[in-house]
Amino acid sequence: RQPVDSPLYPLLEASAEYFRQALKQHPARRAAVDYLKGRGLTGVIARDFGLGFAPPGWDNLLKHLGGDSLQQKAMIDAGLLIENAENGKRYDRFRDRIMFPIRDSRGRVIAFGGRVLGDDKPKYLNSPETPVFHKGQELYGLYEARKYNRDLDEVLVVEGYMDVIALAQQGLRNAVATLGTATSEEHIKRLFRLVPNILFCFDGDMAGRKAAWRALEATLPNLQDGKRARFLFVPEGEDPDSLVRAEGEDAFRARMLQQAQPLADYFFQQLSEEADPRSLEGKAHLATLAAPLIEKIPGANLRALMRRRLGELTGLSGEAASEPASPRPPQP
Ligand code: CTP
Ligand code: MN
Ligand code: MN
Ligand code: MN
Ligand code: MN
Repeated sequence: RQPVDSPLYPLLEASAEYFRQALKQHPARRAAVDYLKGRGLTGVIARDFGLGFAPPGWDNLLKHLGGDSLQQKAMIDAGLLIENAENGKRYDRFRDRIMFPIRDSRGRVIAFGGRVLGDDKPKYLNSPETPVFHKGQELYGLYEARKYNRDLDEVLVVEGYMDVIALAQQGLRNAVATLGTATSEEHIKRLFRLVPNILFCFDGDMAGRKAAWRALEATLPNLQDGKRARFLFVPEGEDPDSLVRAEGEDAFRARMLQQAQPLADYFFQQLSEEADPRSLEGKAHLATLAAPLIEKIPGANLRALMRRRLGELTGLSGEAASEPASPRPPQP
């Protein structure tokens, strides 16, 4: 998946170190420190996640690390510098932003996310795809969560950097984020190799609800018996960061215990909203929607139980309800 060795790793690590130092020492650091404090973060968490600061200006990192032209080329490959296509001028990609180093499972820095200190756009800027960074495969915070606890029982999957960090700040050290991409089957496969339980907790908005269903679809083909996925929906307008900060660790943990919905419940509830099983047509539609998804589940016991549940909802026998639609014969 990733090169074992690459000259980009030391460059990325040195950049992370530069950003960390800038957060401690740069003359313009005050605004960044105040921003992080304003979001409820302490120095301990900033240190644990290696947070940094890319100071304002076009060539801070370039001057610090960009020795010769060969080195600058490597920095372009690493996504740290951008080269202007017209005049060939090179400049820092990340300027005047809070920096979140993204680490692979071994702890090597492979990319960065950078957040503006205010409401400018784009709010987050991420490293581009590089030889060492494949966005759709990585989970932000996984290295840090495993470092904190080698023997994780459950991970929380959230949307954003600040969700991961705010949860950690409140004592929930087991959150990971998908970095603005949809949860993939690859993500889930990796997580289920490490933990038996996944709790999805996305933003309380339309995008978050869509992300939840996408996550369910990515989970189904990885659901061996013994693995469990649940969904926690936060109130409209909140995200895990805002919620855990507003109500604190205990209330958030109580939510996890009381409100997290098992995947199968969410599955049937969601599909029943789309195909109302009170009418025969709705029952038929429900069976059409649900059956092929249920068949993706590799865990024989859960698959059988969900077939039976579908049978109860539709009145079709478990077998008939789950029969994948047969292909239409060719039309003359
Ligand atoms: N994201 C991104 N690029 C953007 C917007 C979002 O990469 N322009 C990713 C980031 O990883 C972000 C996540 O999607 O953390 C969730 O986006 P959003 O909910 O909009 O941001 P928050 O994490 O809630 O940001 P914040 O609380 O810092 O305002
Ligand atoms: Mn590769
Ligand atoms: Mn959002
Ligand atoms: Mn959010
Ligand atoms: Mn947020």
